[in-house]
Amino acid sequence: MSKAFYITTAIDYVNGQPHLGHAYEKVITDVIARARRSLGQEVFFLTGLDEHGQKVQQAALADGKTPQAYCDQLAADWLAFAGQLGLSNNDFVRTTQSRHQEVVCAMLNKLHDQGDLYKAEYRGWYSWRQETFLTDKDRQPDGTWDAIYGEVVELVEHNWYFKMSQHQAWLIEYLEANPTFVQPDARRNEVLGFLKSVKLEDLCISRPKARLGWGIPLPFDPDYVNYVWFDALSNYFSVPAALGDPAAVAPLGKYYQSAGVPSPPHLWPADIQVIGKDIVKFHAVYWPIMLKAVGAPLPRQVLVHGWWQKDGAKISKSTGNLVDPVAVINEWGLDAFRFYVVRELAIGPDGNWTDAGFKSRYQAELANGLGNLVNRSLSMLKRYRNGIVPARHDELAPDAAKVVADTQALLAKNELQGALQSIWQLVNRANQYVDQTKPFSLAKDPAQAQRLDEVLYNLAEACRVLAVLLWPFLPGTTTKIYAQLGLPGTPDQFEAAKWGGLNAGNIIGDPAPLFPRKDA
Ligand code: MSP
Repeated sequence: MSKAFYITTAIDYVNGQPHLGHAYEKVITDVIARARRSLGQEVFFLTGLDEHGQKVQQAALADGKTPQAYCDQLAADWLAFAGQLGLSNNDFVRTTQSRHQEVVCAMLNKLHDQGDLYKAEYRGWYSWRQETFLTDKDRQPDGTWDAIYGEVVELVEHNWYFKMSQHQAWLIEYLEANPTFVQPDARRNEVLGFLKSVKLEDLCISRPKARLGWGIPLPFDPDYVNYVWFDALSNYFSVPAALGDPAAVAPLGKYYQSAGVPSPPHLWPADIQVIGKDIVKFHAVYWPIMLKAVGAPLPRQVLVHGWWQKDGAKISKSTGNLVDPVAVINEWGLDAFRFYVVRELAIGPDGNWTDAGFKSRYQAELANGLGNLVNRSLSMLKRYRNGIVPARHDELAPDAAKVVADTQALLAKNELQGALQSIWQLVNRANQYVDQTKPFSLAKDPAQAQRLDEVLYNLAEACRVLAVLLWPFLPGTTTKIYAQLGLPGTPDQFEAAKWGGLNAGNIIGDPAPLFPRKDA
């Protein structure tokens, strides 16, 4: 079996509510996954939850629950959220799952036996209130600590360290030799700039159980749990290994007992790891070093998206400056939400949500653009030809072919916003075609019957091609377009975008507005 295209998202912290930023990352990953499937690739799309660490332990305590019960309860909400976003993920990992923990332990044991881990004293300034170590950067200009930290004491503890510092040179070389490893370029330059100016230190990968109990116990030292980022990053690798992927199992050698699945998937290395700009260092520095030390191949690409603001200010629960994706979806429909976030923001820069901007794109591009095109094209076909598709005609074929080729090229580069812009050239061209050919006037003149047939075919076929192109973005809407065209199934195979797929004599279904106008 050949290797599947393996794509992942960051795993969200289970404590806290899903917001626009989480939704955006999952939607763009879903669009890439669906686009690759449409283009004929086998795809494995993984997302999930990061459930260990101090914040979860604290939140559970405040809620009067055990951390596990607390996680189980919230995980149900996050799973439901993935469904509400229409994600086509193949698996959903939770870092509390034993299948994940077993692989993390195997990685740790191997690193330990290889001599990549050592125990040493850590001395630092500790805030009991925030339950975190502080550095000199956290001090106020006069050298004191802000009141938010409460009492700050010098604490000495022993911890386990991963010899990360010795990996700096090859990683710089690797980033230079593999310019697409971190994308977009601005992020790659940022990582290279960091690696060339800051000396990497060894990474503390443990927390004493006495201070933090909620984590994966270190298999070789029961007084400690694993640092949450080591645990979380490993999810991308632990799931393939747990599924029996030979490329993930092999590096773990004697440290991991594979369940011996009869026909395991071939996933590792990940093809694209989609993450936000705040966690680049973990994914482009710590993670490749961890993998290299374990002896596993590196992911092919870390794709970094920007951050959303709302009305020009940081999204924040405390100030109430939030976009609730589920509320937007309930009011406007899932595809309207998916469309707006992908169309508004390319993968890379930061974005700004405004309700006015959302409504304006809904109205102009979805309701008046795509929705109106499909509705008037099919309504006229119904009214003037009893819904029976006339003989093939190719007047819009060259326009469609250009858009299909451009869109395919853009999808291959994960330029999702660009792909939507390209697809809208066909939406606009077809709407302009209605205005130019005036089928409603042609219908009044029996001598123009042939011309009307031609126009109606071109419009219906353009709608069909659009459904195929738009499937990764708007799966629900495009399936409706297919149904309204009287076609079975879903438009989920890109090769069907070739002009002429709609057969003469096909009887269309009932036209219905795809994006109801919300003028009130
Ligand atoms: N649990 C870690 C990731 C571990 S990955 C091994 C984490 N979780 S998070 O819930 O805080 O963030 C999850 C993802 O959402 C991150 O990629 C983050 O960048 C993204 N976003 C969080 N807020 C965001 C915006 N306001 N805008 C866009 N994405 C944002 O970090």
